[in-house]
Amino acid sequence: MARKRVAVLISGRGSNMVALIEAAKEPSFPAEIVRVVSNDPSAQGLQRAEASGIRTAVVDHRTFGKDREAFERALQGELEANGTELICLAGFMRLLTPWFVTRWTERLINIHPALLPDLKGLHTHARALTEGRKWHGATVHFVVPEMDAGPIIRQARVPVLADDTEEKLAARVLEVEHRIYPEALRLVSEGRVQVVGGACLVDGKPVETFS
Ligand code: GRF
Repeated sequence: MARKRVAVLISGRGSNMVALIEAAKEPSFPAEIVRVVSNDPSAQGLQRAEASGIRTAVVDHRTFGKDREAFERALQGELEANGTELICLAGFMRLLTPWFVTRWTERLINIHPALLPDLKGLHTHARALTEGRKWHGATVHFVVPEMDAGPIIRQARVPVLADDTEEKLAARVLEVEHRIYPEALRLVSEGRVQVVGGACLVDGKPVETFS
């Protein structure tokens, strides 16, 4: 079966992007990373992608002022020009409008550093600590217009330890992010994920979640 053509969208350091690139180097991996696109020309991840031989593009949101749709039309143009079939958001810090999201239903994937539906939004590690959570983790999900609310493809948890700082907890979560994002991309690319009634089934079975 042909490998799925994947674009990875980033805004920053791109460690999840690297995990996806590394996984896709394996010849049997069912997806290839055809482009890394950043909305920020100074994103560290751009250099990391180029060092791995992946072509990059910048669609700088600032050149479009407040016109989110114009930015998204430019992004869409870039993705279409590369024959993108699936998009992975990896630390992409722009909210996407329904105009864009609905064009990519079940083909647009995100990773969130928490056990969704708990702790949507930003600063999840700090919030897990102040709220005294015993468990924290990461979630890979399809993107829907409502933020961090899409069907869960894969989730993994880590314990919150007594002497945790935000940094220590973030590092523990990042380790599982780097494992589950490629796993989720594999499942989607192999056509093993089906959305039924707003939730994912993988190989016909409900996804294991921990929230
Ligand atoms: C990750 O924690 C991811 O879950 C969140 O943003 C962070 C991006 O980190 N969406 P990186 O750029 O992949 O290193």
